[in-house]
Amino acid sequence: MKKYFSIIQSLCRSIINCDKELAFYQVERLANALKKDGFEKESQSLLATLRNAEKHQSIEPQQLSVSSIVSGEELYPNTPIPVDKETAAPILEVIFPQQLDVQEPLFEDSIRNAINSVILEWTHYGLLLQMKAKPSRSCLIFGKPGTGKTHMAKWMAKCVGLPIVTAKLDGIVSSFLGTSSRNISNLFSFANRYKCVLLLDEFDAIAKLRDDPQEVGEVKRIVNTLLQCLDERSSIGFTIGITNHEQLLDPAIWRRFDIQIEIPTPSNEVRMKLLEHFLKPITITDANVKFICWCMQGASGADIENLTNWIKRMKIISKNEEESVINMMRRYSLLNNGRINEEVKRLLELPNDEVCIKLMEAGISMRQKDIAEVLCITPSSLSKQISKFKKV
Ligand SMILES: Nc1ncnc2c1ncn2[C@@H]1O[C@H](COP(=O)(O)OP(=O)(O)OP(=O)(O)O)[C@@H](O)[C@H]1O
Ligand SMILES: [Mg+2]
Repeated sequence: MKKYFSIIQSLCRSIINCDKELAFYQVERLANALKKDGFEKESQSLLATLRNAEKHQSIEPQQLSVSSIVSGEELYPNTPIPVDKETAAPILEVIFPQQLDVQEPLFEDSIRNAINSVILEWTHYGLLLQMKAKPSRSCLIFGKPGTGKTHMAKWMAKCVGLPIVTAKLDGIVSSFLGTSSRNISNLFSFANRYKCVLLLDEFDAIAKLRDDPQEVGEVKRIVNTLLQCLDERSSIGFTIGITNHEQLLDPAIWRRFDIQIEIPTPSNEVRMKLLEHFLKPITITDANVKFICWCMQGASGADIENLTNWIKRMKIISKNEEESVINMMRRYSLLNNGRINEEVKRLLELPNDEVCIKLMEAGISMRQKDIAEVLCITPSSLSKQISKFKKV
């Protein structure tokens, strides 16, 4: 018992000081010490308790702890912002945590877990430093448009509780020749001086392949400045890069990021969650959710948000409250040609009885009862329609 006293004492201290990170660490230490002395069962039991607690530990935005550890000056709303010397336009924008009106984005579990592990690393920054573990500080997010990359970056910054310094990099590059490199240096100097998360959104605008034959000297200079700035920043603060065109990124830029996360287009299951989330306070039946999400195959989160805004507008102004979901999707398809895939468009053009047969063949786990709901008819009249159609 005496052997474990120092660990137990540290554990008690961390509990008294409400230091959850340290408490977790001390419990793990105790479990390891027990294992070493042959108390395998007790050690396993402690570790299981720990894992269970970690699993249920929600990742909530935190305001102070990281900010008090990260070095640099505090940012204030009146902190002067650097400007482009030619045009006097600000080269960056600061968003403070209290201005960030973002909720946790919806992703499949694997992506969510990956992102949460980065957030946990960043929010446990102090503990990692204390234990001489080098925390990752930079993260590259890539994926198709509208999949929630910017939203996620903002959520990460909100969890860490630091202001975001964000640069619209295409703006910086489109300035006069020669000033772009200086703007990039100024952007990084600003970010390195203050406690913040540096967000490089639409990163591909400047991080194009250096050997692109169309963009000579100037791009090379810009990319080299960027590489130097990223190297310097790697030991200073958190950086998030975002791009839709990861294939345009210079391999040397890729290497500068400790973590690289691809955000996929949402699966059917995630589309259903997004639809229900964005539709609030409106609720629709499970059958209608299933059908709409089937129609929105390949859609991004932003597409789903667009659809839900449209549904809300239609629900408010429509006099025909009993409109079936299929008719609603027919109208949406006509108004949003590019957002609906060809197969779905063709199906929506068919008369109801044919749609019904096709839906049953499509293998989307919709029962006859569900399809009747989508068509806004009773299951018995649907049965009649099907048998009539089959006879023809
Ligand atoms: N997975 C998601 N969870 C919650 N909201 C999402 C998700 N995906 C997209 N959205 C919503 O869609 C809109 C667009 O998202 P966002 O701007 O983050 O996309 P993006 O990937 O950065 O797009 P782009 O590449 O065009 O810049 C936002 O309103 C966002 O809230
Ligand atoms: Mg974006």
